[in-house]
Amino acid sequence: MWMAHEPMAFFDGRLMPLKDATINIATHAFNYGTGVFEGLRAYWNQAQQELFIVQPGPHYERLLRSSRVLHIEVPYRVDELVEWTIELLKANHFEEDVYIRPLAYKADPAVKVGLSGIQSAFAMYAIPMGDYVPTGGIRVQVSSWRRIADNMIPSRAKVTGAYVNAALSSEQAKMDGYDEAILLTDEGQVAEASSSNLFMVRRGVLVTPPVTDDILEGITRDLVITLARDHDIVVEERSIDRTELYSADELFLCGTGVQLAAVVEVDRRPVAMGEAGPITRRLQEAYMALVRGDAPRYRRYVVPVYHR
Ligand SMILES: Cc1ncc(COP(=O)(O)O)c(C=O)c1O
Repeated sequence: MWMAHEPMAFFDGRLMPLKDATINIATHAFNYGTGVFEGLRAYWNQAQQELFIVQPGPHYERLLRSSRVLHIEVPYRVDELVEWTIELLKANHFEEDVYIRPLAYKADPAVKVGLSGIQSAFAMYAIPMGDYVPTGGIRVQVSSWRRIADNMIPSRAKVTGAYVNAALSSEQAKMDGYDEAILLTDEGQVAEASSSNLFMVRRGVLVTPPVTDDILEGITRDLVITLARDHDIVVEERSIDRTELYSADELFLCGTGVQLAAVVEVDRRPVAMGEAGPITRRLQEAYMALVRGDAPRYRRYVVPVYHR
C-alpha cells in the first residue's frame, strides 16, 4: 500500500519508524502470551477537519488494570498515554479512520514460566481501518469453543495469549460460513462474541450479560448502556440463555472494532424479521454521531488530535 508518510510507532519511550520497532524472538510475551493490550479507534471528521480519539481515558484505565493482573509495569499515567497517542497520530499525519494498538508486555528474553523478575515494556502503533465487520446485518454461530473462564485466563483483562480463544472461535465460524462466533461460558450462559460484547432486545428491554459472566468489560458496552438510557430504553444486565438468542426481537454486537453490528441470523435462525431492528438502528446512529465528534452532548467522550 502506498503511503505519503513513513508509518511511525511508539517504542522504547519514543516515536520511531514502525519498521524499526522490532522485538527479539526470545521475548517473554512472544513465547508465553504474557502481554496485555488495547484497541482504540480514532475517527476522521471531514467537515471539522479533525481526528477524534474515542474514549482514550477508559481504554488506558483498562490497560493499566489489565497490566496489574499480569504484574506488568507501565511507566506512564493515563494522561501521559493519551498524550503519546495524540503524538503518534500526528506523526502519522492521519486524515482517515484509524485503529490504535497499545501493548504492555513482559519484554525480557527469558525462558521462564512466571511473571516476577521479568522487565516490562510498552509499545504502540496505529493503522488505517474502516468497518471491521459489516454493520448492516451479520450471521453468527454459537461456537463449540467456550469463552475462557475468569479463573483460567482473567476474562476482564485484555491478555494477548487469551486471543487464541477468539481466533479459534472466529475461524471456526468463518469456515462454517458465518460472519462471527458467539461464545458461551463454561456453565453454558451467553458470554460475548469473539471480540465484541452482545446485546439482545426482548419485549422492549435491552439485555446484556453481566460483567461476572466471563466477558471483557467493554468500553463500547458501557457507552451503549449510557446511550440507551438517554434514549429512555430500559437496560438490564443479566445472564442470557442460548435459546433466548433464538427468541430475541433484536440482537447486536458492540466493540471498538465491530462498532455496532446488527445480528440478523443465529445458528441459521433469523432474528425476528431477519433485519436490523429499530432499537439497534437508533443506537447505531447515536453511536456513529458520537464517535465522529458530531454529537455536542457527548463531546466529552472524544478527544481531538489536531485542534486542541
Ligand atoms: C473479547 C472482547 N470482548 C469485547 C470487546 C469490546 O470491547 P471494547 O468495547 O472495549 O472495544 C473486545 C474488543 O476489544 C474484545 O476483544
